[in-house]
Amino acid sequence: MKVAVLGAAGGIGQALALLLKNRLPAGSELSLYDIAPVTPGVAVDLSHIPTDVKIKGFCGEDPTPALVGADVVLISAGVARKPGMDRSDLFNINAGIVRNLIEKCAATCPKALIGIITNPVNTTVAIAAEVLKKAGVYDKRRLFGVTTLDVIRAETFVAEAKGLNVDKVRVKVIGGHSGTTILPLLSQIEGASFTEEEVAAMTKRIQNAGTEVVEAKAGGGSATLSMGQAACRFGLSLIKGLQGEANVIECAYVEGNGKHATFFAQPVLLGKNGVESVLEYGKLSAFEQKAMDSMLDTLKGDIQLGIDFVK
Ligand code: NAD
Ligand code: LMR
Repeated sequence: MKVAVLGAAGGIGQALALLLKNRLPAGSELSLYDIAPVTPGVAVDLSHIPTDVKIKGFCGEDPTPALVGADVVLISAGVARKPGMDRSDLFNINAGIVRNLIEKCAATCPKALIGIITNPVNTTVAIAAEVLKKAGVYDKRRLFGVTTLDVIRAETFVAEAKGLNVDKVRVKVIGGHSGTTILPLLSQIEGASFTEEEVAAMTKRIQNAGTEVVEAKAGGGSATLSMGQAACRFGLSLIKGLQGEANVIECAYVEGNGKHATFFAQPVLLGKNGVESVLEYGKLSAFEQKAMDSMLDTLKGDIQLGIDFVK
């Protein structure tokens, strides 16, 4: 397996690369790319860790050498939020970055599974899909918005609040990756019950968790270490699916059946071609149904912005 990380010299990229160097299956290759000249040095640094994962770093304007033969591409290239900003404020810079990188993926590794971390994810995934369509290589099973951070946050916060073993708490988070489009399905968590007030407060905390980090870092960026962990979990799941492991399930922002919006975060079964099947997310509570109904206009607008950008 070869995994390429684009944006690898950044806060997320370095954390992710460290985790992957330690956790990819033996014999894998890790390819790091960033415009920052330090990137080959990051790879040299990581290469001293004694694991059976080969690592190479590339910098400069062209990511092509890093993408040759990639099975999985994880993209965190772009700018991050500062206090007072919304994820959508990142669109002006990050839209072009994602478009250019995806053009290179389309030309160099059209069959790779691509996970987009760069915000605003609701929109950058739509941009990626349009670019891949233009290049004639779009396969909806192979493109993902990485929303795993919402899942691990939900699992952590619920376990803390309810005194549960965090290793056993599983939370589905559906919708998208910003504000009210993030919808944790708290009604379905085994072994945890919530009052109406608790549901409202916990949902808000999960939706606002990115801002919680942005404010705590006070101008120093957004979540990097927890995102590195989340992206590592997601990337390893993609690889397990590619290697034919059974029952690999993650929530991710994908093009599903279009019931709610073209792209929607939902549980998916992963396999040798990426999304093997989109799974049902189960019965919603009245609170969740209302939240779902009221998020859809925002989510559809975010997606349309991406489509219009490429067109
Ligand atoms: P960062 O500024 O620390 O790192 C970004 C890196 O991207 C930098 O090293 C920069 O040199 C590189 N870069 C910029 N343009 C590039 C290009 N054209 N090609 C290759 N590399 C390029 O930022 P970060 O904290 O790592 O965050 C990166 C992105 O991830 C942001 O958009 C942020 O909002 C997003 N993010 C998403 C989630 C999520 O849940 N999906 C979570 C956290 C952050
Ligand atoms: C997050 O959820 O932490 C990321 O999307 C970064 C951000 O800007 O909040």
